[in-house]
Amino acid sequence: MFLCLYKMAATSAATFSIGSTISLGTKVSQLPQSKPLSVRFNSQNTLATFSGLKAATFVKCESGSSFLGKESGAALQGAAAPKAQKSSQRSQHNLNPQASYKVAILGAAGGIGQPLALLVKMSPLISALHIYDIANVKGVAADLSHCNTPSQVLGFTGTSELPNSLKGVDVVVIPAGVPRKPGMTRDDLFSINANIVKTLVEAVADNCPDAFIHIISNPVNSTLPIAAEVLKQKGVYDPKKLFGVTTLDVVRANTFVAQKKNLKLIDVDVPVVGGHAGKTILPLLSKTRPPVSFNDEEVQELTVRIQNAGTEVVEAKEGAGSATLSMAYAAARFVESSLRALDGDADVYECSFVQSDLTELPFFASRVKLGRKGVEAFISSDLQGLTEYEQKALEALKPELKASIEKGIAFAQKQPVTT
Ligand SMILES: NC(=O)c1ccc[n+]([C@@H]2O[C@H](COP(=O)([O-])OP(=O)(O)OC[C@H]3O[C@@H](n4cnc5c(N)ncnc54)[C@H](O)[C@@H]3O)[C@@H](O)[C@H]2O)c1
Repeated sequence: MFLCLYKMAATSAATFSIGSTISLGTKVSQLPQSKPLSVRFNSQNTLATFSGLKAATFVKCESGSSFLGKESGAALQGAAAPKAQKSSQRSQHNLNPQASYKVAILGAAGGIGQPLALLVKMSPLISALHIYDIANVKGVAADLSHCNTPSQVLGFTGTSELPNSLKGVDVVVIPAGVPRKPGMTRDDLFSINANIVKTLVEAVADNCPDAFIHIISNPVNSTLPIAAEVLKQKGVYDPKKLFGVTTLDVVRANTFVAQKKNLKLIDVDVPVVGGHAGKTILPLLSKTRPPVSFNDEEVQELTVRIQNAGTEVVEAKEGAGSATLSMAYAAARFVESSLRALDGDADVYECSFVQSDLTELPFFASRVKLGRKGVEAFISSDLQGLTEYEQKALEALKPELKASIEKGIAFAQKQPVTT
């Protein structure tokens, strides 16, 4: 049993960090060419990553005999280290990563919430992991708390414990809500999940208004605008810190393209723009790094598969829910990227559905540069020089995305926030 767990944890750690070189999935060669490249090397001239347990590369680990192997030993060592000061006081963040951030997961007892909590628990950057759910989450907290990684885990069950779960938190991740069943679209979840997201974001506004907020609950194309509206009504909206999590679309695009073209999985980076439902998900295959050429048939096949990949999982699960493990992996990657950005890493790029002026739509998913204050820049070059297929698909997705955004805004405006 223990051996099993050991192996599972080690595998997760490897996956989590290997994909993370530079910015978890965005490798040096894949960074926008227009940006100055600032890559750090340590004394052994290995690439200075700052992702998950890989951060351990830069912390001395005398024994090298941790449960995650030599490179990951610092995760354990970090647990014994004094709590670090916040990153703003650190100049050499990549040389001495230590736990200092607080992360809250709302909906942590669920299919996504539990594996996400496990992956996040493995980060050496986190000092406290708060897990909240309306369902009993104390057992999950007790279970996780036995992992000897730096963060302290606290469980919060029921609405009376929600405010305390959010106090002092730097990043809030929201996977609370119902998932799809076969035959459902993401929009079919609106009636239930809209209220859940509204209530939870109200609590975020009241208790940790400066936090980065990651919205996973579907339909993201509407729940993100709901969250924005709630924060506006509460007077604490910072568009740079509110994110719709579309990382799974990128993870899937990278995987499917690598499989199709026989490329190494961790080498591939495909920006995915638009939104997060059906045809609003637009992988920009022409912008794939490393550069790959696709014939028309391949473009059509890959685009449709990436757009329908969620449904592929929903159907395979035959009513037992939607993607949970790959979603947890993708969400953990986005958490990790956010923490690295908060910590001052200047090379963090992710796709996300955010308030944007790249198109005429108020919210749009694109690659963004993350920094301490959230979105620092939009990578507009991704939308330049598109193929005819991509340009047409971009125009075609706009009416549906616009309607979903407006539906979310109208919902939130009809139901003013509780003060
Ligand atoms: N963004 C994406 O790419 C993506 C991918 C997959 C799934 N999702 C979405 O994520 C959501 C969660 O999926 P899941 O598979 O984990 O579902 P799940 O049913 O397994 O878990 C949801 C959890 O949310 C909790 N919950 C419900 N209402 C709550 C509330 N008001 N406050 C706190 N917790 C609450 C439930 O108790 C449950 O534990 C769904 O909306 C799903 O559509 C998004």
